[in-house]
Amino acid sequence: MNADLVIVGSGLFGLTIAEQAATELGLKVAIIDRRHHIGGNAYSKFEENTGIEVHQYGAHLFHTSNERVWEYVNRFTEFTNYVHRVYTRHNDIVYPMPINLGTINQFFNAAYSPAEAKALIQDQAGELAGTNPKNLNDKGISLIGRPLYEAFIKNYTAKQWQTDPSELPASIISRLPVRYNYDNRYFNDKYEGLPLDGYAAWLERMAAHPNIEVHLNTDFFEEGHEFSRSKVIGQAPVIYTGPIDRYFDYAEGDLSWRTIDLEEEILPIEDFQGTSVMNYADANVPYTRIHEFRHFHPERTYTKDATVIHREFSRFAEHGDEPYYPINTSADREKILKYRELAAGENQVLFGGRLGNYKYFDMHMAIGAALSMFDNKIKPHFTGGNKIV
Ligand code: FAD
Ligand code: NA
Repeated sequence: MNADLVIVGSGLFGLTIAEQAATELGLKVAIIDRRHHIGGNAYSKFEENTGIEVHQYGAHLFHTSNERVWEYVNRFTEFTNYVHRVYTRHNDIVYPMPINLGTINQFFNAAYSPAEAKALIQDQAGELAGTNPKNLNDKGISLIGRPLYEAFIKNYTAKQWQTDPSELPASIISRLPVRYNYDNRYFNDKYEGLPLDGYAAWLERMAAHPNIEVHLNTDFFEEGHEFSRSKVIGQAPVIYTGPIDRYFDYAEGDLSWRTIDLEEEILPIEDFQGTSVMNYADANVPYTRIHEFRHFHPERTYTKDATVIHREFSRFAEHGDEPYYPINTSADREKILKYRELAAGENQVLFGGRLGNYKYFDMHMAIGAALSMFDNKIKPHFTGGNKIV
């Protein structure tokens, strides 16, 4: 083991740290990942029969308003001008999302002006005025009124959580955005797009520096290789981006996560749904949404003979499942505080990324957080400033 810095996990957090350490400081960096590919959850591959780029861990849309992150990611890839839009199917009718004036007018079969629609929704949301929402149902109704809540939010949320919203805490949603105009752009960020030649090419370029060594199929907690925990700790600083509870052998208990199951299907038609993401708002369909990957790249000439879709199902993660979204119950919040204390006491190990923080990070947030950790902790350690302790 002759690396100056060892990074556990080759997701965007680990790759950003590795790239900066190699490029800015000339360090020898070893990245290990237990998967057979780099890039963490942002990884994609070109499906072999159709050549269509498929995001393996759920559809990933890049967006940011952070100038530094935008400049940084453009060092490794160009971005297309893809603009994300989502539709939802309810009672066999398709509506634009997030809820906007188009959704409202279609739903109420009306031609309300922005002011009229706002007055209507305020009136409907007043149903529970003066009461304190006891659960997610009441919260939803108090935010956007019963008709829209029950049509577009209630059953979709029940499927995401596999729990009736009357038994979910009101705190899961703090707001339900309603746009009183026809804007149905999904993201509000200044920059948005998809990597021109695919996610894998972008991620590979981040690891291309000759000082960066990548070791795949290599689990930090398994012995039998030179980068196992027992061989590395104390030899070089470690940036750990795996699950924080796993690092401490679940000493404070499991943190809870939701995971998703993706069922891939290749259909012998050019176009299945006419758009990249269709939500299914109703209870009688078991999946939450369908992704159709060809629509993420209208600029590419994909085959007309086939299309690739993913049906997405949501459920609680168990040991061995991929942890995707932190659930963050009050028990989880108590546990994470204890884990953070343990992490602070760990010699020469820094915890980062979404799994190391038990926090949902969009890609731009993971990259931004890694750039900050590099500036504030790693660079000083190697350039005569404060040491990583
Ligand atoms: P990860 O990408 O999870 O990388 C962590 C890596 O650590 C993994 O490769 C894992 O194999 C490795 N690892 C873990 N334990 C070990 C171990 N013991 N030994 C070795 N390696 C280990 N962001 C967006 O900006 N836009 C989106 O549209 C978007 N959609 C998403 C959809 C889903 C379903 C999910 C789950 C996330 C989405 N994200 C999206 C978020 C994006 O995936 C994260 O921002 C990104 O993954 C964060 O990178 P990371 O490095 O923190 O974690
Ligand atoms: Na420490």
